[in-house]
Amino acid sequence: MKHLLKMLDLSTEEIIDILNLADQLKYELKHGIPHPHLQGKTLGMIFQKASTRTRVSFETGMYQLGGYPLFLSSHDLQIGRGEPVQDTARVLSRYLDGIMIRTFEQKEVEALAEYGDIPIINGLTDFCHPCQVLADLMTIREFKGSFDGLKMCFIGDGNNMANSLIVGCLKVGMAVSVACPEGYRPPGEILEFAERYNNFEITDSPLKSAENADILITDVWASMGQEGEAEIRKKAFAGYQINDEIMAVAHNDAMVLHCLPAHREEEITEKVFEAHAKEIFEEAENRLHAQKAVMVKLMAK
Ligand code: CP
Ligand code: NVA
Repeated sequence: MKHLLKMLDLSTEEIIDILNLADQLKYELKHGIPHPHLQGKTLGMIFQKASTRTRVSFETGMYQLGGYPLFLSSHDLQIGRGEPVQDTARVLSRYLDGIMIRTFEQKEVEALAEYGDIPIINGLTDFCHPCQVLADLMTIREFKGSFDGLKMCFIGDGNNMANSLIVGCLKVGMAVSVACPEGYRPPGEILEFAERYNNFEITDSPLKSAENADILITDVWASMGQEGEAEIRKKAFAGYQINDEIMAVAHNDAMVLHCLPAHREEEITEKVFEAHAKEIFEEAENRLHAQKAVMVKLMAK
């Protein structure tokens, strides 16, 4: 594993290795055991979109590993004035030991990896959010003990979160059901991958999708960059909500996850959100541990 660009690139074994290391790093942090695997290393963090969790967890994680994080806003970089990503990659490769990037187009992240010669970590694109889904898998295993026999149901937009969840959950052996309105399904590349599995289904019925689910997940109806479509999307996604009716058809002990930020009374009711705050905020914490594991795997050589 040279980069973390998308879940599609990871083998099941690589995913499990990252989760095991993440569990170990979480244990070490909680018990005050130092783990300076990246002493003297630097991580550049390029943000072309807003962030609370990704920025703070990468920055803190790098510090805990003994390294140094640099926050690089695209407003201040020449990339924001049109310097090609291919040139940025070759320059930054000469200063840094790794780059985390949050941007719009997946091809920009792939170009950084192609032209640079240091590990690239995708901190969210319009296509996928692998760091979040590694944290989600870590949280699912923490609460459920293993992935065996579990069903994950995602309700909402066929967006970056849906894409990475479909791939990640199928790769670790879970059944996956997705409920999306017509016109908002995941892209062909993801559906082609998923349809190779016989434990994948896609429907436009949230209730059908949630039946006997062990894990229910949703995300905002309008992602970053889609603010102009918010009103159209509110109409398209009406009913695609995790609420009491959905919880009633899932397993009694079903857990609920949300990558955050959440829009209460849109994709999830306040009541369900607060009833499952324990899992949701553990999931947010696990971003730190999962990403530290990714950085160690990629940068500790
Ligand atoms: N879930 C997530 O990626 O949060 P931020 O946008 O705050 O980084
Ligand atoms: N789908 C959301 C996820 C935010 C973490 C977005 O892209 O804005």
